[in-house]
Amino acid sequence: MADNVGNKDAKNFAEDIPFANEGSFHVKGASNLDWGMKDRLSRIFNPKTGKTVMLAFDHGYFMGPTSGLERLDLLIPKLANDADCLMGTRGAIRSSVPATYNKAIALRASSGSSILEDDLSHESMVVDIEEAIKMNASAMAIQTFIGADGQKETIEAVNQAVNLGSRYSIPTMGVVAVGKEMERTTKFFLLATRMLAEFGVQIVKTYYCEDFEKVASACPVPLVVAGGKKVPEKDALTLAYRSIQGGAAGVDMGRNIFQSQNPEAMIQAVGKVVHEGFTDLEAYEFYLDVTNVTVS
Ligand code: 5RP
Repeated sequence: MADNVGNKDAKNFAEDIPFANEGSFHVKGASNLDWGMKDRLSRIFNPKTGKTVMLAFDHGYFMGPTSGLERLDLLIPKLANDADCLMGTRGAIRSSVPATYNKAIALRASSGSSILEDDLSHESMVVDIEEAIKMNASAMAIQTFIGADGQKETIEAVNQAVNLGSRYSIPTMGVVAVGKEMERTTKFFLLATRMLAEFGVQIVKTYYCEDFEKVASACPVPLVVAGGKKVPEKDALTLAYRSIQGGAAGVDMGRNIFQSQNPEAMIQAVGKVVHEGFTDLEAYEFYLDVTNVTVS
């Protein structure tokens, strides 16, 4: 291991130079992967735009039924059409999402703690690879807590998923968690996203931060940005816009969609930003237009 003392901070991210190993494939860092991986990544990332709108509704795996997710069976049918990929647990998807939707699935494959505990950072890979195969998962999502108590076990879990996923050509999405003691600094996200990419994940889910362009530039696989806690619709669309402008390959949004006053209009507005080049203001106007028509 390199000597930590005297380590110089990275500073030359060449943000204005496109990724060099793109080849003819539309997903960053994936041009050397095999057919099965590319097929699954193409289900997540639209081949026409290279981007994705993931709908995250896996919150129940550690917090039970939260606002907006009380009835998955009623919610998901309203939103699935406008999502490229559904991120959920096997229990939620098997019970409440019709298989006929034929949507890309980012299967939540790690867990280990609940909101009844103070420290949520202990997770391991709990879903067998056979389950991911049987559910035709397009990716397995594993939460990692870099810099927290659970760092070692979650690093092991994400590496386990990468090993098993490589065997069957199922991509792994490493999810950067920010626990209560972890700062949301550029330095932290540079570290965590790059570590996950070096472990071999094919997708990294992270949070937006200052100098996000640097984080995206230093990460050789696509970043999808988490929505985070509910904010006004306009602000959530600004988050999506800045993420895409900063080099993200999409968003993986939960509460800012399903807790919106109009979840259907909101996911469509997010899609306008991600796939159609709308600015945040244009997308917000779209949201208002649709909402005026559909909400009494
Ligand atoms: C947590 C997750 C969740 O799916 C995600 O963070 C929830 O989405 P949002 O923050 O947009 O509600 O990956 O580990």
